Amino acid sequence: MSQLHVLSVVGARPNFMKVGPVHRALEAAGARSTIVHTGQHYDARMSDVFFRQLGLPEPDFYLGIGGGSHAEQTARVMMAFEEVLLEVKPDLVLVVGDVNSTVAATLVAVKLHVPVAHVEAGLRSGDRRMPEEINRLCTDAISDLLFVTEQSGLDNLKHEGTPDERVHFVGNVMIDSLVHAREAARELGSPAAHGVEPGGYILMTMHRPSNVDTQEPLEEMVRLVEGLAEMLPVVLPAHPRTAGNLEKFGLLDRLKAVEGLRLIEPAGYLEFLGLMEGAAVVVTDSGGVQEETTFLGVPCLTLRENTERPATIDLGTNELSPLDAAHVIGRVRSILGGERAGHRVPPLWDGKAAERIAAVLIGEKGA
Ligand code: UD1
Ligand code: UDP
Repeated sequence: MSQLHVLSVVGARPNFMKVGPVHRALEAAGARSTIVHTGQHYDARMSDVFFRQLGLPEPDFYLGIGGGSHAEQTARVMMAFEEVLLEVKPDLVLVVGDVNSTVAATLVAVKLHVPVAHVEAGLRSGDRRMPEEINRLCTDAISDLLFVTEQSGLDNLKHEGTPDERVHFVGNVMIDSLVHAREAARELGSPAAHGVEPGGYILMTMHRPSNVDTQEPLEEMVRLVEGLAEMLPVVLPAHPRTAGNLEKFGLLDRLKAVEGLRLIEPAGYLEFLGLMEGAAVVVTDSGGVQEETTFLGVPCLTLRENTERPATIDLGTNELSPLDAAHVIGRVRSILGGERAGHRVPPLWDGKAAERIAAVLIGEKGA
């Protein structure tokens, strides 16, 4: 049997920790793994640091796409990725998650008749105003193999009429990265590096357009930080979208003046993992952070109306909340006061999802 050649696509921050373990598992199983970085995220702190910390090799191709409107960004990835795909001619394209690079690469591959595997398939928020929901729906509809992280993904795909043979319940590759990096993250001592004690601070991340792109919710976020920082120090690594909008709406100086706030640059993976593990509570609107806190057993408040990751609520430590400072502060106070629901790690979030994916891919090639 000839060697399986997989071309994996990364573009934005949450992609790197998903492709890292798959790359390693493919190589360990004797397959060839080539990596394309679209350059959707390009700052060193949103990209390079993850390659170093996750043991990913330099990408074989870097497309340098950068930012832009949805149409511009998606179209630029499509045009550049088509050239790479025609040159590389892999057996399969592997895409992860729900960012614009994911759907763009999928469209290109399917039209060139190259099979596509989607890792983290089947998640649905039910909210079509989220760009990610459109990316998920389109990617799943046309991918050949769908690798699912949680029960809701299986249910959603069944409900949409997806044939069973395309769907594989393998667990969560993001947790593979976490398991792999946990010890190194602990050794880094990130809380101390930011002048906070393990168990004695709140960690916050915000970057959803619905929360940070307009003045009103962004102001509410600043009010929230002001209130939280009265209870405990707050560590807030600011996503470039959020940092840009704080500046644009004249809110940056007010935020910087909050006593007890550590407003920092986007954190490296190990640094952020250490900060999550030591946090008393995490307040976020991130997709991946909901899953990582569930695995770590750290309480998480997600400032969104819905989640595409309901296992983090049904089994894990996650709770949805409106972006309403008074409400969130009340919930944090209860959690700090000792209120804690029991939690379980969802099935197959065990650090071995990538091995299962590699086994399926190699099996398909042999079939
Ligand atoms: C993207 C994903 C989102 C994901 C998030 C993870 C889409 C539609 N959105 O959102 O699902 O949760 O990444 O972080 O794919 N910027 C920089 N430097 C960078 C990257 C971005 O300055 O390295 C700034 C640019 O001004 C850019 C803006 O951030 O225009 C937004 O970046 P973009 O990738 O379009 O969307 P995100 O909000 O990062
Ligand atoms: N993360 C990080 N540094 C940060 C914030 C997040 O390394 O400052 C990691 C986090 O641990 C998770 C991933 O980035 O692995 C989540 O990415 P993000 O929140 O940007 O995207 P989403 O998951 O919402 O699509």
